[in-house]
Amino acid sequence: MLLITDEVTTESINYLLPELQDVGMEERTVRLRNGAQMPRIGLGTWKSPAEVTKQAVQAAVRAGYRLIDCANDYDNEHVIGEALKELLDQGEVKREELFIQAKLWNSNHRPEHVRPDLEATLKDLQLDYVDSFVIHWPMAVPSSGQKVALRPDGCYPAHFSQGTLFPLDDEGYYASDDASHFIETWYAMEDLVDEGLTKSIGLSNFNMKQVREVLEKAKKHLPSVVQNESHPYLQERDFRAFCRINGIVFQAYSALGSADRPWRHTGSITSGAPSTGHEVLDHPILRDIAQRLGRSVAHVVLRWHLQIGGAAVCKSVTPSRIQENIKLWDFALAPEDMDQISNLNVGWRHLLWAETSMHNDYPFKDWLPSDYKLEKPSAGSTAGAK
Ligand SMILES: NC(=O)c1ccc[n+]([C@@H]2O[C@H](COP(=O)([O-])OP(=O)(O)OC[C@H]3O[C@@H](n4cnc5c(N)ncnc54)[C@H](OP(=O)(O)O)[C@@H]3O)[C@@H](O)[C@H]2O)c1
Repeated sequence: MLLITDEVTTESINYLLPELQDVGMEERTVRLRNGAQMPRIGLGTWKSPAEVTKQAVQAAVRAGYRLIDCANDYDNEHVIGEALKELLDQGEVKREELFIQAKLWNSNHRPEHVRPDLEATLKDLQLDYVDSFVIHWPMAVPSSGQKVALRPDGCYPAHFSQGTLFPLDDEGYYASDDASHFIETWYAMEDLVDEGLTKSIGLSNFNMKQVREVLEKAKKHLPSVVQNESHPYLQERDFRAFCRINGIVFQAYSALGSADRPWRHTGSITSGAPSTGHEVLDHPILRDIAQRLGRSVAHVVLRWHLQIGGAAVCKSVTPSRIQENIKLWDFALAPEDMDQISNLNVGWRHLLWAETSMHNDYPFKDWLPSDYKLEKPSAGSTAGAK
């Protein structure tokens, strides 16, 4: 881990820093360690159906968003590519004004698969490079077999997702690729920066110990971004502080609490309703604050993300909400409001993906119930369950 000690030189301090510069609540961007400015609010695209994603992305860019968060398992990168091409061709935005983030899928962790994965994403996005490319999860899974295939030939061969991304073993449990480890994957990610295919690299769904391992073993490039779940019920204060002192920007996903997560109604102890009894956007305290300020609850939550110095991606396919969610710089939460939201931190994580917890590199073991017994993926899982 990089620590500030007497031995730290001026040069190493420079590379420790972005959030150490103290992101003011009014800043719209945060500086990454490569010098790039990353927008603090971005449009999420998980669960955005392909048929409405093009208009969502165009509405977002027209409303002022510059960060679009993509991933090949969202099965809509090809449509995002169409949206971006039209916006760029029509001169509505310039490529250098955009910040496009994409993710390496679990079946492509083997070093020789990393570049083809990004190349396939770039083809779909109709871009020459992305601004950030993150390892989506630390767990490597097999890249060939009955129910999975390596991009570009099979990951989403006809942009139809079910059953292609999550390999199952003969008994129907998720399978792992135990011979592959994310540090080897990281070295292949580093090469992508040198080849100009991505401006920066990062991590997603890694726990603190795993991020530290990457920091310690990286050879050429350190992580710029960690994209992990965070919202008022999962504030991740220690993790945010850890990222800050190590020069990493913590970017919250499911920033609004992900009320449309596919497993919302499964009733499972590991994936069901929040322990508070309310979805984040329905919490009475947040509703009260919103009502008093004459704003939406989403405004209050996103403004909280900004005022704790954070960055966040939030998803909507509804143009009016997309437009609303970026209007965050004309009001402020009072210290008493911030205190009340602070008290909503109950450690509820919706994306446990507990059925993968047999994997050596599964990140969230500490969040599993002590009596959790490994389950087969159910129909409520994002994909792969047949
Ligand atoms: N790295 C990862 O593993 C990972 C995991 C999860 C998420 N992410 C990223 O983070 C993004 C955001 O997370 P998320 O999709 O889980 O959920 P989210 O952004 O927390 O919540 C999305 C839900 O909020 C609704 N919504 C948005 N704005 C609203 C408003 N103003 N008022 C009321 N409801 C509103 C959306 O509805 P409508 O769409 O119907 O408007 C949708 O149901 C994802 O899309 C993805 O890009 C990454």
